[in-house]
Amino acid sequence: MRCDSHLIPPQPPLPPAYNKPPDPRRHKPSAAPTTSSTMYALLPLLPFLLLVLYLLPRRPYLRGPPLLSVLLPGPVRTFHANPNRLTECLSAISRTHGEVFALWLGLSRVVFTTDPADMVHMSSDTRLFPRAPRMRAIFELAVPGGIFAMSHEQHRVVRAALHRNFNHSMLRGFHPAMKRAVDTLCEALRRAAAAGKPVDISTLLSSTTFMIILNVAFGGDFSPADCLKFAADIDILSEELMLEYVQYWVRAAFEWAGSRARLFACKKRIYAMCNQFVQRRLAETRADKEARAPDMLDTILSLDQVPEHELASLIVEFAIAGSYTTSQTMTWSLYETCCVPRAREAVHEELARKFGGKGADEMLSFEEVDTLEYVRNVWKESTRLHPISPLLERVVTEDVTLKGTGVRLPKGTILYGNIKRMQTHPGIWSKADEFRPERWGRRGIEAERVPFGAYAAFALGKIKCVGRFLADYEGPLIIAELHRRFKFQLACEKDEVVNRSNFVDLPRYLNKSTGQEEGIPMYVELR
Ligand code: HEM
Ligand SMILES: *[C@@H]1O[C@H](CO)[C@@H](O)[C@H](O)[C@H]1NC(C)=O
Ligand SMILES: *[C@@H]1O[C@H](CO)[C@@H](O)[C@H](O)[C@H]1NC(C)=O
Ligand SMILES: *[C@@H]1O[C@H](CO)[C@@H](O)[C@H](O)[C@H]1NC(C)=O
Repeated sequence: MRCDSHLIPPQPPLPPAYNKPPDPRRHKPSAAPTTSSTMYALLPLLPFLLLVLYLLPRRPYLRGPPLLSVLLPGPVRTFHANPNRLTECLSAISRTHGEVFALWLGLSRVVFTTDPADMVHMSSDTRLFPRAPRMRAIFELAVPGGIFAMSHEQHRVVRAALHRNFNHSMLRGFHPAMKRAVDTLCEALRRAAAAGKPVDISTLLSSTTFMIILNVAFGGDFSPADCLKFAADIDILSEELMLEYVQYWVRAAFEWAGSRARLFACKKRIYAMCNQFVQRRLAETRADKEARAPDMLDTILSLDQVPEHELASLIVEFAIAGSYTTSQTMTWSLYETCCVPRAREAVHEELARKFGGKGADEMLSFEEVDTLEYVRNVWKESTRLHPISPLLERVVTEDVTLKGTGVRLPKGTILYGNIKRMQTHPGIWSKADEFRPERWGRRGIEAERVPFGAYAAFALGKIKCVGRFLADYEGPLIIAELHRRFKFQLACEKDEVVNRSNFVDLPRYLNKSTGQEEGIPMYVELR
């Protein structure tokens, strides 16, 4: 679809720079009483003025739900009332308004696109399309000075430095710690199988990925209980980030009244733990260092571009970005293999064919994980159908015409790439809503043809996920290890599993008898 004539009105000015010291003028006593009393007198007229503004004829518009749709029943009102249904509502709006539409968020009009070529364009240039100010402000609150909030120049330098040693060649060294995490997970599942009771698989997998990230990446030696405690804090942080996302200004205005108390308390606990890793590592002797494989912490500590007091922020970010994402995707993957017997049987077939003779206590080696084909496709298909990070949020720093849809965006426009909708779009994918790992091809079988950019679960371009090589190893490894040893069955109805936007998108089990949302319950049997 091309719509060159479409224009959206100029955006209101961007929020004040969050990383500059506060401007003392802004904290002066409030304006003279005369001004404010005139303002109060005008207040009853405000709805009327807004209505007039809204009805005035305007320049050609990018289409989208009108400002007042927040008052009418429908997806716009739904996600305002329930932020955790954001992704689902945006897909619904996209179904009515097309590949590219504008939406009022508060009083600013933002643009959403689901076009693959737009997605490639907005990922190609971090100077023209940096992360949006509010997203960065939120990260600046939670993880000041980290990679999510860095200026575009610093980001470029840090990414280049990271890639020099944080890459695929590190994985082999992770094997012992991966094995410890897998053993702990399987032990818990064996107990559940013996008891014949359902387990909360979301929580178990979450604890596993935390164990991996803490032990593998940070050389920690953490007990499962410690990992669970850390996981619980990351859950809280994630919830708080989602609240910040939808209520940023309200929370900023009421910070004095404790609107951010829970966020800050949780942040304090997480930083205390991460600072421990740093201190322990800084105190390490040369001999100790040579005796172990290099890890993520070595890489982070070697970044001389990052001031020392901000190193902990990077660690927190890697711990958040590297655990929750992966465990939730694994949960989706297990859920799908429960719902789609054909996929589960194909997984079992591949595992039996390749590793039939291998003992259940032996973990697959690095090379063996590399030979997996179908299981890797299961993993990739899970990230397609359930992208954990469903939206990319960028700001346009100059007037620009999107290369896919041809929409012109004035400088300052907030642009969202709706990955979830793009990756489940029936115009792009055959049987888009179905879980079909075989669409990714196998040796001798060609993959489905889709436009470049149509798969972007790990984002694209310069801000794409730095940890993809780890996730793409860890995911298939754990899926394979679980399916080699156990049979899983959902302990609830398929449609009781819902999507929730909690900063990342996660699967939740909605218990209808209590109205509570819980982790996904599954029965486990030994194979
Ligand atoms: C299934 C697993 C994962 C998915 C789907 C995923 C997805 C993503 C996406 C979409 C982004 C871009 C976000 C944006 O630009 O707004 C991102 C960034 C990032 N991811 Fe991942 N990720 C996964 C696992 C991991 C792992 C295992 C790690 C770390 C070891 C990690 C570390 C990061 C970091 C540090 C960034 C920020 C990159 C930057 O700003 O330059 N992720 N990830
Ligand atoms: C999740 O959301 C999509 C649309 O965004 C919907 O089609 C799907 O049925 C939802 N539920 C699950 C379990 O995937
Ligand atoms: C990957 O990292 C290793 C160290 O972990 C380094 O020796 C190697 O040069 C890196 N590879 C690339 C392509 O940067
Ligand atoms: C749903 O909640 C009820 C009441 O607490 C509980 O008895 C039941 O086991 C829960 N269902 C599942 C599948 O966990």
